[in-house]
Amino acid sequence: MTSRPISRRRALALLGLGTASVATGTVAWATGVGAPGQCSRLRPGASGEPLSQPQVAASVNGVLDVALTVGPGVRLAGRDTSAFGFNGTSPGPTLRAQPGDTLLVRLVNHIDQPTNLHTHGLHVSPHGNGDNPFVTIEPGDSFDYAIRIPANHPAGTYWYHPHHHGTVADQIFAGLVGALLVAGEPDLPVTEDVVLLVTDTTLDDAGRVVPPSAMARMMGREGDLVLVNGQHEPVITAAPGDAQRWRIINGCVSRVLALRLESHPLAQVALDGVFLPAPVDRDQVVLAPGNRADLLVRPTSDGRYRLISDPYNRGSMGMMGGMMNGGHAATGPVTLATVDVSGPRTISPALPATLPAPPAPNGLVARQRQLTFAMGMGMAMGGLGMDGMSFTIDGRTFDTGRDDQTVQLDTIEEWTVVNDGPMDHPFHLHAWPFRVLAASAGTPPTGVRQDVVLIPARGWVRLRIPFSDYPGRSVYHCHILDHEDLGMMATVNVRT
Ligand code: C2O
Ligand code: CU
Ligand code: CU
Repeated sequence: MTSRPISRRRALALLGLGTASVATGTVAWATGVGAPGQCSRLRPGASGEPLSQPQVAASVNGVLDVALTVGPGVRLAGRDTSAFGFNGTSPGPTLRAQPGDTLLVRLVNHIDQPTNLHTHGLHVSPHGNGDNPFVTIEPGDSFDYAIRIPANHPAGTYWYHPHHHGTVADQIFAGLVGALLVAGEPDLPVTEDVVLLVTDTTLDDAGRVVPPSAMARMMGREGDLVLVNGQHEPVITAAPGDAQRWRIINGCVSRVLALRLESHPLAQVALDGVFLPAPVDRDQVVLAPGNRADLLVRPTSDGRYRLISDPYNRGSMGMMGGMMNGGHAATGPVTLATVDVSGPRTISPALPATLPAPPAPNGLVARQRQLTFAMGMGMAMGGLGMDGMSFTIDGRTFDTGRDDQTVQLDTIEEWTVVNDGPMDHPFHLHAWPFRVLAASAGTPPTGVRQDVVLIPARGWVRLRIPFSDYPGRSVYHCHILDHEDLGMMATVNVRT
């Protein structure tokens, strides 16, 4: 980012905000897209309905054989919309498999733009028709994935979404998300085990997904409607004494969730799908886009308690302070769901003192690397719009044909990911989960396996990555998916 002073007018022009309105001296939201209060928005048709679970597609005899058709026309927040779904729903079906299973997924594209499929968080091969982010499925076409989950894969909470570079944010904002659960023993003794897949979107009064303004895209768009399993503020019923496992997935394009449950501590048992070594009581659980947390909720007395996401400051575009803060109006706490506790008391087993966390890989670090995430005003000052702002890793935007890191298979590497800019960027690596060793914020590293970590503005995080089992090319990127689509992604080639 240059430190050269820049006039507000010049900056607005670079950001593609209507120059005509700037000339009249009004800070206008030129297109009306993403403009607070300027076009009518769909209000939820239903709130407070019982939490529903997506349909389940489960593996049989080691194979999960499922067709997922991507198409428009789903119900969201109790309304008919032209948002996208898998097999007519958003979220799509919950895929349930066991370690050792093969996912045979036929993805059928019935939308008018290319798409594909990514199994976020799975340690599986990125090669060929595996979890390959370079696949393109054109409108009208289909593609047969065969994704083999290794027999020693940790059980847990993962998810799936499209990953076609350039349209990832649009397609997730339009509803293309689903949960992917790997079952395994031992499991927790709980009275309920539910998926809470959180998404946000913005719909106009005809139920169409509203595209973001240029500025919202750069900041990372946040939707007006925050939904859980496609529902607005659903109600989870519980009896006092219950122990419920909530598998919370942050499927939002850009929104960081800062979760709390009124009058209850949150016992976190898993991060990014896999068990922690022991349950941790937290007042607040922060999930960057892509992160998951499994929480054990144990209500003790009757009442209604809201699951809330508090405002989270993920930085600004830097040069214009508050004005650039996201380009949307939703700033207060958001209610995601309510737990309604009533009825006869139940008795649940105590929380286990230790949990079956997967073992940490040991071994020598073969190589250390430093990566830098940055955004800045490009030198293309003549152009209006987003050409003027670049989102880079190591000074470059994404090039599908370029190998950015070449890694030796079955070695352990240490990566220090530096964030040079004024906004947080969640770092995500496909196929090879990592552990956080240290971070600029000084918070003690959890030391557990994860796949998304928030790199705070002007901060850094050091990771240990075992590049085990799978040769092949894949990607790492900012999981603010607007940034990814704008180029903040790079490739890693793991070679034998
Ligand atoms: Cu959740 Cu590259 O993705
Ligand atoms: Cu991923
Ligand atoms: Cu980012």
